[in-house]
Amino acid sequence: MTNISAAITAVGGYVPDYILTNQILETMVDTNDDWITSRTGIKERRILKGVNKGTSFMAIQAAKRLIKKNNIDPKTIDLVVVATATPDMKAASTSAYTASEIGAINAFAFDIDAACSSFLFGMSIAARYIESRIYKKVLLIGADKNSSMINYDDRATCIIFGDGAGAVLFEANKEGLGIQDEYLRSDGTGREFLRGTHGGSSNPITIESLNEKTHFIYQDGKTVFKNAVFNMANATEKILDRNNLDNDKVDWLVAHQANKRIVDATANRINLDHKKVLMNIEKYGNTTSGTLPLLLSDYESKFKKGDNLIFAAFGGGFNWGSVYLKWAYNS
Ligand code: COA
Repeated sequence: MTNISAAITAVGGYVPDYILTNQILETMVDTNDDWITSRTGIKERRILKGVNKGTSFMAIQAAKRLIKKNNIDPKTIDLVVVATATPDMKAASTSAYTASEIGAINAFAFDIDAACSSFLFGMSIAARYIESRIYKKVLLIGADKNSSMINYDDRATCIIFGDGAGAVLFEANKEGLGIQDEYLRSDGTGREFLRGTHGGSSNPITIESLNEKTHFIYQDGKTVFKNAVFNMANATEKILDRNNLDNDKVDWLVAHQANKRIVDATANRINLDHKKVLMNIEKYGNTTSGTLPLLLSDYESKFKKGDNLIFAAFGGGFNWGSVYLKWAYNS
């Protein structure tokens, strides 16, 4: 039997229209454009407005763009995975609704949550389903409405997070392109440093928690920063080492957009020319599961068939890792 690998064959992205700039944030909390830009690289982020609009709204838009642009019949999609830390609601999966709304009526669907590494881990799931030959088309969507869990009085978090979504289609490839290798890790001792304490099963929301705003996200920025730099760089270095890759052979670093300094530190550790480092954090901030597919969507036209892409992410939990993928098409 011919060897197959799981390749990305189409991408789509969506961000909401409303732009929350650093200047607007200056009027909301004690912060300023210079500080945010120099400490994070972020100038603005998108916020999803509108009654009853949740993560699925953006996931659906991103998927519909992918489907339209590539003339795909949604009835041929076998599986829809929505990677998200902000599902629409409890118990009813965001992915099932998304699949129905895009016309993927022959698909099964499920959500996965590994915080900011959700999309990266989802790539591993998509690859296994394709490599098993059981399914031919797997749609992986990374989408988060972070504004739903941000306290806009807390300058430690509100300057960083934004809303957005991206979608990619995985299909089998017989030319050796697609996913080559992965290094994924988790460490649950990190969960106290980045979390929404109330609103889950351990601590349901109470009147007191609402008053204390502990249903919003809290983070110990310094600890998260240190762990992100160390682990993202470490995972990326491991992937490069075991695949004999170096600056000459890597074409693009597709790194989770948490903080420009974290991405720069990862690029420095692997001695990568900064022209190869994809960035859009200045426009969107940290969109959690949306960052990696939004980078693919924004930079798709630059990728060439055979290009070596190194993905890297770090997120709450902690969860982190790196994936090596060979790009499968010219735009
Ligand atoms: N605006 C202006 N000043 C701020 C500020 C803000 N939003 N937040 C903190 N400051 C001030 C602090 O009061 C402190 O002042 P001081 O030196 O006079 O005491 C100074 O800036 C440094 O604060 P600190 O909290 O040490 O900032 P930092 O350099 O660690 O940057 C983060 C803060 C949040 C940007 C950074 O820690 C970070 O990016 N962490 C990782 C977050 C992340 O990636 N989360 C998602 C993981 S996927």
